[in-house]
Amino acid sequence: MREVVVIGCGMTRFGELWEKSLRDIFVEAALKAMDDAGVDHIDSMYVGSMTPGIFVGQEHIGCIMADYLGISPVPAVRVESACASGGLAFRQGFIEVASGMSDIVLVGGVEKMTDSSDAIYGLAAAADREYEAYNGVTFPGLYAMIARAHMHRYGTAREQLALVAVKNHKNGSLNPNAQFQKEITVDTVLNATLVADPLTLMDCSPISDGAACAVLCPLELAKNYTDTPVRIVGSGVATDTIALHQREDITRLNAVVKSSEAAFKMAGLTPDKVDLAEVHDCFTIAEICVTEDLGFVEKGKGGKFVEEGKTALDGELPVNTSGGLKSKGHPVGATGIAQIVEIFEQLRGSGEKRQVKDAKIGLAQNMGGSGGSSVVHILSL
Ligand code: COA
Repeated sequence: MREVVVIGCGMTRFGELWEKSLRDIFVEAALKAMDDAGVDHIDSMYVGSMTPGIFVGQEHIGCIMADYLGISPVPAVRVESACASGGLAFRQGFIEVASGMSDIVLVGGVEKMTDSSDAIYGLAAAADREYEAYNGVTFPGLYAMIARAHMHRYGTAREQLALVAVKNHKNGSLNPNAQFQKEITVDTVLNATLVADPLTLMDCSPISDGAACAVLCPLELAKNYTDTPVRIVGSGVATDTIALHQREDITRLNAVVKSSEAAFKMAGLTPDKVDLAEVHDCFTIAEICVTEDLGFVEKGKGGKFVEEGKTALDGELPVNTSGGLKSKGHPVGATGIAQIVEIFEQLRGSGEKRQVKDAKIGLAQNMGGSGGSSVVHILSL
């Protein structure tokens, strides 16, 4: 395999982008990434998008995005793995460059959710429709069950969940691309509208629009474009049962465990070597479970990890410096690439007010559904 690097990134602001269409926001992010990379052509493209047919009535995403970006007839493929669609698109681009099949590959993610009155129906299509969604449980309900089980088994406190949201909103207040750029308190979280006990509105990621893109090339070509290429040193993907009731332990996200093991093995690294991580905090409990299942902290101690400030911007392992899905927003197909954008900016020292000092190794973890799929990438200077 050839060594693969990221040479440029770009994204739109996340939020309610009512004045722009699906194609507009993708093209905006793609042109920013191409400009950042200094490339004037693309050999191949992968676009992560979860369910644009339900959200905006548009399918054939590879074709339409290549067309409006003006790069047809290059190969362009849509990749889908629910909320992990962006992460998986990144992996497909990585494989294509590593194999020698293409040199300059654009990987992106896009979703436009706020135009739809069917957003929750569309999201629920990524759960087990027959056992879960048809019986009335959608993602807030599924993650609420995980939260209750985690609290019961490990004594995780309600306030510890809230602290994840407080931290991520604080980071998001420093990110000009975030949907919510305001700080909140534990009381704001606890007193917000109850969505699925114990999770309130402030424990949830929002409904969002947005797009993010990155340009990949082989290491040997990177010097033609940039002095600061960021290497992709590890990539792992794994699946688990789609329905929660079939898991032995719903607090353990097996796809996260397996995808991170694969990525760390490829990188020849261990979790203690990671300087910062972007993880899939679709709900506050998800960040706690994921930091445990990635091996950053012992199982059951994720709540304490947050409470002690270990995952804060100035902590020993800053997590979700971008604001995470909670505050930056969660246009599902775009999220996995936006995580890569944050790690890329941090590693090349352009994290601005969110810059993590001496960041050299970053990890991005992107999840589909309630842990039915997970993608992990490790990036290094
Ligand atoms: N965090 C912070 N503020 C939020 C928010 C969130 N997640 N969601 C909405 N808001 C704000 C809105 O900006 C709005 O503020 P305003 O009154 O000042 O304008 C207010 O809360 C109400 O917004 P509204 O759009 O009416 O919320 P809603 O009740 O329709 O939806 C949720 C709120 C949490 C139910 C919805 O965002 C949701 O379902 N999130 C989960 C998405 C999901 O499952 N993703 C997949 C994960 S696997």
